[in-house]
Amino acid sequence: MNIYELIEKRRSIRSYLPKKVEEEKLKRILNAGRLAPSGKNAQAWKFIVTRRSELKEALVEACKGQKFIAEADCIITVCVDESKVYQQHGAYMTSFMADGTIALQQMILAATEEGLGTCWIGAFFEDKVREVLKVPEPYRIIGLTPLGYSAVEGKERGRKELKEVVVWETWEG
Ligand SMILES: Cc1cc2nc3c(=O)[nH]c(=O)nc-3n(C[C@H](O)[C@H](O)[C@H](O)COP(=O)(O)O)c2cc1C
Repeated sequence: MNIYELIEKRRSIRSYLPKKVEEEKLKRILNAGRLAPSGKNAQAWKFIVTRRSELKEALVEACKGQKFIAEADCIITVCVDESKVYQQHGAYMTSFMADGTIALQQMILAATEEGLGTCWIGAFFEDKVREVLKVPEPYRIIGLTPLGYSAVEGKERGRKELKEVVVWETWEG
């Protein structure tokens, strides 16, 4: 698949088969995250791979009861050390969210290439995820994804037309 086909193919998957993800696939996916760009190349991230069922169940609670995440073979959680990232992003914030988001999205696209399902999880209580996974301060939790073999075809959710989201040269055109 080329990159455009991959981008088209990816869907949020909310139902998983009880099937293990092969270690070599998992390693390639994690490596895709490792290779992500980050502000000043800080790479201030950790990717936590959670497979133990009691921890996955605890993450369901931390993610507002989203039960499907525990069906997947693993849950990947991306954390970023906010004290070590680029501090002047746009001269108004740090790059922690951008850095972690890019890494997670690269892993999600790599998973699509490997024939695996994922789903961006942004609905979570940071303090609860921190407690379950024992994430130290000043790491922030960026997001999670279940990773596993999909039990369903992902639904096409629709997108705005290009002309609705692109303007040329300036906002006013
Ligand atoms: C930042 C972010 C947070 C999200 N959080 C959740 C979530 O907590 N639970 C969920 O089921 N889907 C979540 N999603 C998935 C979106 O609902 C989904 O990407 C969107 O509806 C488009 O569908 P698609 O991914 O299948 O194209 C999230 C997506 C993003 C980008």
